[in-house]
Amino acid sequence: MTRGLPFALVVLLALLPARAGEPRPAWESPRVPAGAAPPEGLTAMTAESCGACHVEIAAEWRASVHAHAWTDAQFQGELKKDPSVGWLCLNCHTPAGDQQAERAEPTGDPKSPTRAVNPTFNAAWREEGVSCASCHVQDGKILGVYGDGRAPHPVEVSERLRGAEVCLGCHQAVATVSPTLACAFNTGEEWRAWGGEATCQGCHMPEVTRPVATGGPVREGRRHLFLGSLIPKDALSAEEESYYALFAAGLDAELLLPDDAPAGSLVEGQLILHNARAGHHLPSGDPERHLLATVTVSDGAGRVIYVARYRVGQRWRWWPEAERLDDNRLAANERRVVPFTFPMPAGGAVATLVVEHRRISEEAAAYHALDGYPTGRVVTEARRTLTETGQSPENPPTGAQDG
Ligand code: HEC
Ligand code: HEC
Ligand code: HEC
Ligand code: HEC
Ligand code: HEC
Repeated sequence: MTRGLPFALVVLLALLPARAGEPRPAWESPRVPAGAAPPEGLTAMTAESCGACHVEIAAEWRASVHAHAWTDAQFQGELKKDPSVGWLCLNCHTPAGDQQAERAEPTGDPKSPTRAVNPTFNAAWREEGVSCASCHVQDGKILGVYGDGRAPHPVEVSERLRGAEVCLGCHQAVATVSPTLACAFNTGEEWRAWGGEATCQGCHMPEVTRPVATGGPVREGRRHLFLGSLIPKDALSAEEESYYALFAAGLDAELLLPDDAPAGSLVEGQLILHNARAGHHLPSGDPERHLLATVTVSDGAGRVIYVARYRVGQRWRWWPEAERLDDNRLAANERRVVPFTFPMPAGGAVATLVVEHRRISEEAAAYHALDGYPTGRVVTEARRTLTETGQSPENPPTGAQDG
C-alpha cells in the first residue's frame, strides 16, 4: 500500500465550482434543510419517532448499515483525519440538516465552506445516520408508494422511490477532485451497464406482505434491510442473523481439480469466480472493498505444500495524486477462470478454498486502530481431496473429508 493519506475511503469532493449550468452535486447540501419543521401531524422526523407506528420497518432499518452510517468506527476514524472536508461526508452519512452540528454552505473550495453553528441541531438524530427522512421527507411531505392509506401525515406518491434514483444520490458519486482526493462510487453506472430488470430495491429491499403501519391494512411492501456485503458492523443479534439469512452473497466460487494425479506430476487446477447475483460489479462502492481468495494445498500428512492468493478489487495510489492503478472486479454475470498448478505430493492431497470479502485491508484497519471491528467475512469455503493415481480412493489422506 502506497497510500500517503490513509483515508480508507476515497473521499469525494467537488473541488472546483460546477461549471455554469451544471447542477451542483447533491452531496453539497443536506437532503432535508436545517431548521425544517416535521411534516404536519408529526412531532419529529427521527427514525425513533416514525418507528412508533412503523414498528417492523424501523426494526429492519435499525439492523441495516444505513443506521450505522454515523456511528461506524471506520467512518469516525476517517472523519477525524481531515475535519475541514467533513461537512461533505455528512451530507451522505447524516443527510438531514438538523443531524449536523454546523450549517455549511459550499463556496467552491471543499476545505472552506462558510460555516455557522446550527441552532436546531439534534444530536440524537445524528446517531441515526441515514434515517427514514433521508429517503422519505421532501418539502414537508412523506414520499410514499400507495397514496390510499390513512396516514396521520401528508403523503405524496413518488415514482422516485420505486427507481434507482433515490439511491444514486449517495451511491453514484464519481469526481476528481483535489489532487489527493477522488470520489469513486460507481454502483449506478455499473448497474446501468448490467442492464437487468431489477432495481436496487428489487434486490436490496426484499418484498414482504404485512401491515406497513400499526393498525393499517396488509399490503405488499419491502423490507428495509439494505443488505449488501453482509459484513456486520458489530456482533449480530438473533434477529439480525435472521435478516442476514434473507440475502445471498453475490459470488459463486469453486475449485476445479482432477480426482487423482500421479505423484510428482503438475496438477492443473482452476479457481472459478462468478458474479452470479450482484446487478453491478463485485465488489462495488467503496474502492477499498475486495475479495480475497486463498487456495491451500496440503499433502497426506497435513503439511502445507502450496498457497496461492487471488485478489479481486481496485488498487489506488493516493499520493502524490489520487490515481486508480488497476481494477479487476467482476462485472455483473462475469465468470472468471483463474488457473493454478502445484506438484502432486505422494500419498494424496487436500485442497481448500477460502474466499473472504473485506471492506478494508489489514493495514488500513490497523492504521485506524479498529480493534474488534469486523473488517471482512468468509463468503465461500470449499474442500477437495485428490488421490494419488493408483492408490485406493477408500484411503484418502488423513483427515480428508469432502463436503
Ligand atoms: C435508503 C432509503 C430509505 C430509508 C432510509 C427508509 N426507506 Fe422507507 N422506503 C424506501 C423505498 C425505496 C421504498 C419503496 C419501495 C418500493 O416499493 O419500491 C420505501 C417504502 C416505505 C414504506 C411503504 C411500505 C413498504 O414497506 O414498502 C414505508 C411505510 C416506509 N418506507 C417507511 C420507512 C421508515 C419508517 C423508515 C425509517 C425507519 C424508512 N422507511 C427508511 C427507502 C427508504
Ligand atoms: C402516529 C403514527 C405514524 C407516525 C409517527 C408515522 N407514520 Fe407513516 N404512516 C402511518 C400510517 C397509519 C400510514 C398508512 C398505512 C397504510 O395505509 O397502510 C403511514 C404511511 C406511511 C408511508 C406510506 C405512504 C404511502 O401511501 O405510500 C410512509 C412512506 C410513511 N408512513 C413514512 C413515515 C415516516 C418516514 C415517518 C417518520 C418521519 C412516519 N411515517 C411517521 C402512521 C405513522
Ligand atoms: C443519504 C445517502 C444514502 C441513500 C439515499 C442511500 N444510501 Fe445506501 N448507504 C449509504 C451509506 C453512507 C452507506 C454506508 C454506511 C456504512 O457502511 O456505515 C450505505 C450502504 C449501503 C449498502 C451497503 C451494505 C453493505 O453491507 O455493504 C447497501 C446495499 C445500500 N446502501 C443500499 C441502498 C439502496 C438500495 C438505496 C436506495 C433505496 C440506498 N442505499 C440509498 C448512503 C445512502
Ligand atoms: C440483481 C440484484 C442486484 C441489484 C439490481 C443491485 N444489487 Fe447491489 N448487491 C447485490 C448483491 C448480491 C450484493 C452483495 C455482493 C456481495 O456478495 O458482497 C450487492 C452489494 C451491494 C453493495 C455493497 C458493496 C459490495 O460489493 O458488497 C452496495 C453498496 C450495493 N449493492 C448497492 C446497490 C445499488 C445502489 C443498486 C442500484 C443501482 C444495486 N445495488 C443494485 C445485488 C444487487
Ligand atoms: C456521495 C455520498 C458520500 C459522501 C460524500 C461520503 N460517503 Fe462515505 N459512503 C457512502 C456510501 C454510499 C457508502 C457505502 C459503501 C459502498 O458503496 O460500498 C459509504 C461508505 C463509507 C464507509 C464504510 C466503508 C465500508 O466499506 O464499509 C466509510 C468509512 C465512509 N463512507 C467514510 C466517508 C468519509 C470519511 C467521507 C468524507 C470524507 C465520506 N464517507 C463521504 C457515501 C458517501
